[in-house]
Order: sequence, then C-alpha cells, then structure tokens
Amino acid sequence: MKILGIETSCDETAAAVVANGTEVLSSVVASSEALYQKYGGIVPEVAAREQVKVMIPVVHEALAGAQMSGKEIDALAVTYGPGLKGSLLVGVETAQALSWVWGKPLFKVNHLLAHIYGAFLEGGSIEFPFVALIVSGGHTDLLLMKSHHQYRWLGGTRDDAAGEAFDKAARILGLEYPGGPAIAKAALKGEAHAVASLPRPLLKSPDFDFSFSGLKTALSKRVFQAPEQANLAYEFQEAVTDVLTRKAVSAGKKHHVSTIVLCGGVSANNTLREKLRFSAEKEGIKVLVPEFKYSTDNAAMVASQAFFAPNAVAGVALVVEAGLGY
Ligand code: KG4
Ligand code: ZN
Repeated sequence: MKILGIETSCDETAAAVVANGTEVLSSVVASSEALYQKYGGIVPEVAAREQVKVMIPVVHEALAGAQMSGKEIDALAVTYGPGLKGSLLVGVETAQALSWVWGKPLFKVNHLLAHIYGAFLEGGSIEFPFVALIVSGGHTDLLLMKSHHQYRWLGGTRDDAAGEAFDKAARILGLEYPGGPAIAKAALKGEAHAVASLPRPLLKSPDFDFSFSGLKTALSKRVFQAPEQANLAYEFQEAVTDVLTRKAVSAGKKHHVSTIVLCGGVSANNTLREKLRFSAEKEGIKVLVPEFKYSTDNAAMVASQAFFAPNAVAGVALVVEAGLGY
C-alpha cells in the first residue's frame, strides 16, 4: 500500500510517498526556517504564507521522486494537529482537495504520534510495548505504547518543551535560530565542569514530568555573571539531556519494556542519543532513534503512522488510557 503523506504543522512543508509503512519512496521537505533568523523564532503568519507558495510543488516533487502519479497512490495522510493553525490548514485543505480529485481515502494523523513512526522508517522493527520519549519544539511527552491503537500518557513538560528550551537558551546565549543545533554546535567547543552546574529540574521526582523554564532563568542569570558561550551551551545541553535520559529510562524500567523510542526534533541531538543509549543499555533496554533526516518534521513519518494506525479511515478507535490532550 502506497500512501502520500503531507506535513505542514510548523515551518516545514513536506510530502512523501511511503510503501507499506516503512519503505520511503520519496521524501521532500521545504523549510522557511531561514526567514526567522532575524526574529529568533517562527512568525506563524509568515510560515503559513510560505506553505501556500510551496505546497503544490512539494507534492509534485514527492510524486515525481516516487515515479508515480496521484491516481496511482492508494491513500493520503495529513497532519491535522497539534501545530500552528494557519500552517495546518494549508496541508489539510490540500490533502482534502487531492483526496476528492483522485478519489482516494484520507487518513488524519496526530503529529506527535507520527514522530514515533519516524524511528521505524527504512527498516526498524516494531515490538510492543515500548516507551516513547517525544521531544520537539512544542512538546515533551513520555508515552507507553501498547499497540498501534493503544497508548498511555505517562508524563510531560509542565512548562517549556525541550526544543523550546533549546531555542530560548540559544537566544539568551546570542546563538542563532533554531537553537537546538546551534547549542549542540557551540557545546562542541565547551568543556565539562568549566562553569558551575545548572539545575537539573525534577531529576529525582517520582513522576514522569519535566520542567525547563527555571533552567532557562538560571541560564540567563549565569550569562550575566559569566558570559562564556561555549561552556554555558555545554552545561545547558548536559542539564536538559540528563533529565530527559533519567526520566525515559525510569519509565522503561517501571513498565518493563525492552525498547525506548526517542523521537521529535530534539532527538537529532547527539549528546541525548548517546546518553540515552548508554543508560538504557545498562538496564537491558534498547533505544531506537529515527535517522537524522526523519528526526525533525517530515511527511514520511505521517504516511507511516497512517499505514500502521489507520484509525480515522478503518473506524478502529484509538484507545487512549490517558491522552496527550491535543
Ligand atoms: O519536531 P520538530 O522538527 O518540530 C516540532 O514539531 O516542533 O522539532 C523542532 C525542535 C526545535 O526546537 C529545534 O531547536 C530542536 O527541535 N532541534 C534540536 C536539534 N535539532 C533540532 N534540539 C537539540 N539538538 C539538536 N541537534
Ligand atoms: Zn515535530
């Protein structure tokens, strides 16, 4: 079954054709990220307008890459949320129109659940149950995935998302947007213990919640006292990744899973990947991460989720024991 996925939840405009949930025939991502350097963050209206400009060319390129016409695909899948309203609308309206014109079914996909499926593209095997740590620009959530149709929300951030914390910390440190890659790059020149340590919020709390806003405040005070960009970037990255790692591994142990899936844009962070692998493997838990190109927003993950959990079309209800709330 070949599904054309469409993703426009933030500043990326993406389309992809995926066969049977894992074989990526084409994946095209256009980003308006460069436009936001001067603002230090996304401008939603600008993002939506850019989506309108490139949506159809991106779909054409994805079909051409898969050497298919619209009539030859079996179904479409589109992210319906969470995300920026104006941007989402561009993808949803496009998918609805194409579904009608081509006479193909349309699957509605939750962006966060889709991130999980990025880890199974091009070969990853899926064994339930597993714990998923979803760390993106807008969300930080820990889920216990029991099947494609059943999950339990274990915890999440009480304030800033992990990616948002990276983006804001970068701004505090005078680094560019998006902050995650900028901090990771600056941290390569930083040294361990070169500055006094920053807090690890909620590190030892028995729940699976996170909080990153206080860490940001601590960083801004530290910048005032000691403006050492690389060392502070290093220490900030250590603080965020320590907390994410500890909570994900505790959730894995508590729920006796053999796999943790790390996904969402922040999963592109090498320090987080290495730390989580190291700690989880000590507990006999393996870690699955998407290839770098499928860590940040893309449409292949959207098509994949629709293949494995076609709840909207097949009428199979998603059993949500404790939901994501969006
Ligand atoms: O999943 P994503 O592409 O978009 C959302 O759904 O939000 O995630 C974007 C987030 C941004 O906050 C960005 O700074 C962060 O992912 N990010 C990273 C890295 N690459 C992207 N954070 C830390 N280290 C990275 N290497
Ligand atoms: Zn995302």
